[in-house]
Amino acid sequence: MDKLSIRGNGPLNGEVRISGAKNAALPVLAATLLTAGAVRIGNIPRLRDITTMVELLQTLGTQVEVAGRGELVTGTRHSHSVRAPYQLVKTMRASILVLGPLLARFGAAEVSLPGGCAIGSRPVNLHIQGLKAMGAAITIEDGYIKAHTTGLRGARIVFDLVSVTGTENLMMAATLASGTTVLENAAREPEIVDLANCLNAMGARIRNAGQATIVIEGVHELHGAQHRIIPDRIETGTFLVAAAATGGRVRLLDTAPALLDVVVDKLREAGATIRSGADWIEIDMQGRRARAVSVVTAPYPAFPTDMQAQFVALNAGAEGFATVKETIFENRFMHAQELQRMGADIELQGNTAIVRGIAKLRGAPVMATDLRASAGLVIAALAADGETLIDRIYHLDRGYESIETKLARLGADIRRVPGRTPSAQVHPARKIG
Ligand code: UD1
Repeated sequence: MDKLSIRGNGPLNGEVRISGAKNAALPVLAATLLTAGAVRIGNIPRLRDITTMVELLQTLGTQVEVAGRGELVTGTRHSHSVRAPYQLVKTMRASILVLGPLLARFGAAEVSLPGGCAIGSRPVNLHIQGLKAMGAAITIEDGYIKAHTTGLRGARIVFDLVSVTGTENLMMAATLASGTTVLENAAREPEIVDLANCLNAMGARIRNAGQATIVIEGVHELHGAQHRIIPDRIETGTFLVAAAATGGRVRLLDTAPALLDVVVDKLREAGATIRSGADWIEIDMQGRRARAVSVVTAPYPAFPTDMQAQFVALNAGAEGFATVKETIFENRFMHAQELQRMGADIELQGNTAIVRGIAKLRGAPVMATDLRASAGLVIAALAADGETLIDRIYHLDRGYESIETKLARLGADIRRVPGRTPSAQVHPARKIG
């Protein structure tokens, strides 16, 4: 298994291009199952999760062609299977996104239950209840969600709690249902809006995506379309925090600062000077140490849970004391224990981390436990003294395109240590960037 070796070497400095949003590209790819037409999708990030979704679509009968850099064209004339197998679903929970489209277009779907996840139990009951309300018959057998229908009907569905992929699954299914579907207490994430824009370009009739009540009028069929994925707000936020934690100055291009308001406000509170235009953002810490900032995660437009680990890392080396409260997922503080190995002073009390900043973190061998926890460890390592060796970085590869190349471009001392290498000392690591 590959590892990352990082030596903190002062402020990050320079500019990098932000990739397309993973969490927008995954549902848009799943949505292409809804039509026989060709869907051309641009700005797709090169990530492990995207490869998994493409593999899943191919298993289901979709033809996927690479049309250019970051561009894919999909076509699903027929389905030769409606089964999303365990081997693929277990590596990526977002595979559940094929459930709604398969059911709506082909009248049947079998999707493996995603199973436990490192950041909490993450059930899919809301997806299932919603599809049942639209007339699907659903059973759980042999670890699979087995669903069929002779035709979905529009329904009014009230989510008990806000679910991003739950909203996406039902929104996709509703595009081909007969009549009108109203989703109440829907997720308002920018990725929902991006998916709705793509679906509407395919002939769907969706109103108010991005608001708590979404209205979808079903149509008979969808057609091919072109769509460009929005920039990744979490990748953008991660690079901004990395700059803040190292006292650096970084400019991010091809991004959408308007999707990051709360994160930007928190970074200003931490002492950063931030300027932005429509598609770029620049942070300047002027070599200063950040002030610790308290955050509470909650559904969009509030502070994103996917930025929580990065702020714990920032606070760990910041001036003062902060609380970080996680309200979306239980058990999403596994990075705390790893950061403690680097000297961080973090106390966990239920769903809150109390972080007392220390003058300087120290490099140590640490283990990545999930995607965003890994990002937190990378940030801590960039700000620490000495070498940090991060194990299990396949988590990072799921969601960050070329992270070591991008960080190296900003001056970081970062190397990928290939998996077969028994020890970094015996076989020196390859320098990347
Ligand atoms: C999506 C994002 C993920 C992000 C999360 C919260 C994608 C591919 N992933 O995940 O990066 O961290 O939103 O912003 O977009 N829940 C239920 N029953 C359900 C569904 C969810 O109880 O049927 C609970 C979950 O356990 C969790 C909360 O609802 O506590 C929110 O989860 P949800 O928004 O569904 O997360 P994902 O869509 O899986």
